[in-house]
Amino acid sequence: MPPFHSRDGVMHAENVSMTDIAATVGTPVYVYSTSALRDAARAFKTGLSCVPRKHLAFAVKANPNIAVLQLLAEEGYGADIVSAGEMTRALAAGMRADAIVFSGVGKTDRELSAALDAGIGQFNIELEEEGIVLAKLAAGRNLRASAVLRINPDVDAGTHAKISTGRRENKFGVNLDDAGAIYARLAKLEGLNLRGVAIHIGSQLADLDPLEAAYEKVGRFVAALRGAGHTITHVDLGGGLGLSYRAGDPCPTAAAYGAMVARVTRDWDVTLMFEPGRFIVGNAGVLLTEVVWVKPGAPHPYVIVDAAMNDLARPALYDAFHGFAAVHPRGRRMIANIAGPVCETGDTFAKGREIDAVERGDLAVFQTAGAYGATMASTYNCRALVPEVLVDGDRFAIVADRITPEAMLVSQHLPFWRARTLQAVG
Ligand code: LLP
Repeated sequence: MPPFHSRDGVMHAENVSMTDIAATVGTPVYVYSTSALRDAARAFKTGLSCVPRKHLAFAVKANPNIAVLQLLAEEGYGADIVSAGEMTRALAAGMRADAIVFSGVGKTDRELSAALDAGIGQFNIELEEEGIVLAKLAAGRNLRASAVLRINPDVDAGTHAKISTGRRENKFGVNLDDAGAIYARLAKLEGLNLRGVAIHIGSQLADLDPLEAAYEKVGRFVAALRGAGHTITHVDLGGGLGLSYRAGDPCPTAAAYGAMVARVTRDWDVTLMFEPGRFIVGNAGVLLTEVVWVKPGAPHPYVIVDAAMNDLARPALYDAFHGFAAVHPRGRRMIANIAGPVCETGDTFAKGREIDAVERGDLAVFQTAGAYGATMASTYNCRALVPEVLVDGDRFAIVADRITPEAMLVSQHLPFWRARTLQAVG
């Protein structure tokens, strides 16, 4: 049975009714399914069963909830992090430091130092200077930091421009033309154990061809490095595998991905590393919301829900599609725009879409919201920070609190030279 399904006409997450979650926790709220998480984690692993030596590092940015990370650690995943904050989360969730890979184009000296002190397993170096600084910081601690060099293969991932990372004009990795010379200089540094190459060309890839083209380039680069006398033991192939957000949209299976990887990397003789994010968590979560109003609009009525762009930013940022389904469908359909309460026209989830007919007070979900959902939430318009719930069978628990505007007020301060004016005003 799918993790989010209808039972007696009411949507359930596993064995828990969405109505119960809304009544207990309120809305909006993200709801994750344990079984969906485990299934996707296992499907990805199974897809790669033809790869003999591998390390799976979940891209924490996709969903940094510690309950999610703990489950994935249990499934044998390490973490791909891009900040000291994500490192804190991964370690708090029980992930082993040596199973953590540190990616990111702007790691500060402080972050590099913290990661060295924590014993992080691998640093993915983005530019020569970063490698030099990392080597110095490591040598100062009598360490050799295991590292790989991220290259920019200049391949168009064919995804939204804002989440493409593998074109020459993007900020990521080093240009392939310069990569050999940079690698040779970094490989000499005392504090580094430079052991391979990393790549990541973008996210939400619906087609395997760009990935294959990029991996072919990596293969040729690895051969050239070996030809120049370097010992290459690790290649990090990044993440990027897309999901089908809309029924019928193409998306590769883990098995097809695994078969392509196995074919392209057949002769590489390295440990392959993977950094999947969206594929693991996307389908394991929905954003549960309540209809505040159905407001007349032209040419379609506006369904105004209590979730907004601050809770789920993807439609506003990338024109992303998220399916919308009523928790208790009335058996009718309507054509509507769906929008949140934030005072921007961009706070629109859908335009002129055919959906389950809803009325004021109805519950509904935005689907495929487990990846890049809660993690990208903000408090814009002084709205609460959205909470998260994890379901497991017939149990559910709050795994991230709703941070209320009242709680946030504690971190707001008047300057000391104006503090007394509050009393005067109040
Ligand atoms: N590794 C690196 C170095 C990355 O930059 C990313 C994602 C991943 C792995 C994981 O990629 P995935 O398997 O999830 O596609 N906020 C955007 C997505 C940004 C992705 C950034 N990097 C969205 O909501 O679509």
